[in-house]
Amino acid sequence: MKNVSVCFVCLGNICRSPTAEAVMLRLVEEAGLAEHIGVDSAGTGDWHIGEAPDARAQRAGGRRGYDLTPLRARQIRADDFQRFDFVVAMDDANVSALQDVCPASMRHKIRLLMEFAPQLDTLVVADPYFGGEAGFETVLDQCEAACAGLLAAMRGHLAD
Ligand code: 4NP
Repeated sequence: MKNVSVCFVCLGNICRSPTAEAVMLRLVEEAGLAEHIGVDSAGTGDWHIGEAPDARAQRAGGRRGYDLTPLRARQIRADDFQRFDFVVAMDDANVSALQDVCPASMRHKIRLLMEFAPQLDTLVVADPYFGGEAGFETVLDQCEAACAGLLAAMRGHLAD
């Protein structure tokens, strides 16, 4: 079996993308694919490098059994587009920022997370940073639905 990898990307790497990373890690473990599917996350911005996820993201994730505490924010780099098969953004601003650092030959790797949950009828995981706790629940709902779809797509690459 081949290996395949994903890096989730948002602005700060402290709310949405670490949530997606934790959700995906659990799905991958439950599927028994931890040795074949790599999962990471990063931010397009540099403000929160080295920080743990936002306390509200940790709490909301913790209520659903996800452990975000070991994760630390980092910034996306050009060589991430070589390392990862899927670079999965939360919104259009993330996509634009990724295109600025992505080598031209790797642009096809940039996708929107919500492409993988067409049943939810949105392409955006809204930034919960300036809102209340409810926004973090919505992020989790969206990540759970879309990571299931993304895992199905990644399984296809394992068999290639
Ligand atoms: P994230 O949320 O992109 O989902 O991690 C944000 C985190 C921090 C900021 C904005 C969004 N900020 O402006 O510092």
